[in-house]
Amino acid sequence: MRKEVRIDMKRVTSILLALLLVLPLAACGVTESGANTSAAEQNDNTEITSAGSDETTGTPATEASSESTEGTQRTDSRASDTLIVYFSESGNTDTIANYIHDEIGGDMVQIIPTVEYPHVYEELADYAKAEQDNDERPTFEELGVDPTSYQTVFIGYPIWWYSLPMIMETFFDTYDFSGVTIVPFNTHEGSRDGGTYDMIRDREPNAAVLDGLLIRGGDVGNDESKTAVKEWIAGLDLE
Ligand SMILES: Cc1cc2nc3c(=O)[nH]c(=O)nc-3n(C[C@H](O)[C@H](O)[C@H](O)COP(=O)(O)O)c2cc1C
Repeated sequence: MRKEVRIDMKRVTSILLALLLVLPLAACGVTESGANTSAAEQNDNTEITSAGSDETTGTPATEASSESTEGTQRTDSRASDTLIVYFSESGNTDTIANYIHDEIGGDMVQIIPTVEYPHVYEELADYAKAEQDNDERPTFEELGVDPTSYQTVFIGYPIWWYSLPMIMETFFDTYDFSGVTIVPFNTHEGSRDGGTYDMIRDREPNAAVLDGLLIRGGDVGNDESKTAVKEWIAGLDLE
């Protein structure tokens, strides 16, 4: 009887010892399981993001990537294979970018000028004309992503003075899109793409530049513009 009790005590002791060995490991950062947890979390993020981009659900992908990564994914690694990057001063190109995102998901980032543009149209028109005449390269805020690390990059902008806004010239000066698939899109009030798709092809000879989408600013927001985005994306030769 006593012996049995001692044997039980031994078992209890060894269980306690085992616990004593394991618990501190658990407490000190749980090297393995902690790493696993964080990897699992990262995988979760990746899955959500890529699911967003594959399933044409739109918003979840960006929300997931911005909420769950707190910016790290935007600087060090890509959250998906698709990026939508655009400049928009009065919101038309922004709306189209969002339609694209609704269709295809992926990451999306806006090109924000370091120095704000004038908000009065006439002033903006003069300002933008001077930028173009002087061949300026207005700077923009850090994007928080490396656009060249994505497989496919949708690039959007309005037409200014029959051409690319000069801030887009800065953008194309900054990045070398060799090996990347570029999909341009723009809004305008009559100049269509202003020859800018060919300009992009010239500037990025080692990128595949697919057929762009141009939408008149005045049509942005109507059902036709949404349908145009849908049909255009469906017809693109995306991998
Ligand atoms: C400074 C400036 C210059 C513009 N120049 C042209 C132009 O040459 N041709 C054209 O079709 N539209 C021109 N537009 C109209 C814009 O391309 C159009 O309103 C566009 O949808 C604006 O896009 P956003 O709202 O994304 O900024 C110009 C607009 C501005 C502000």
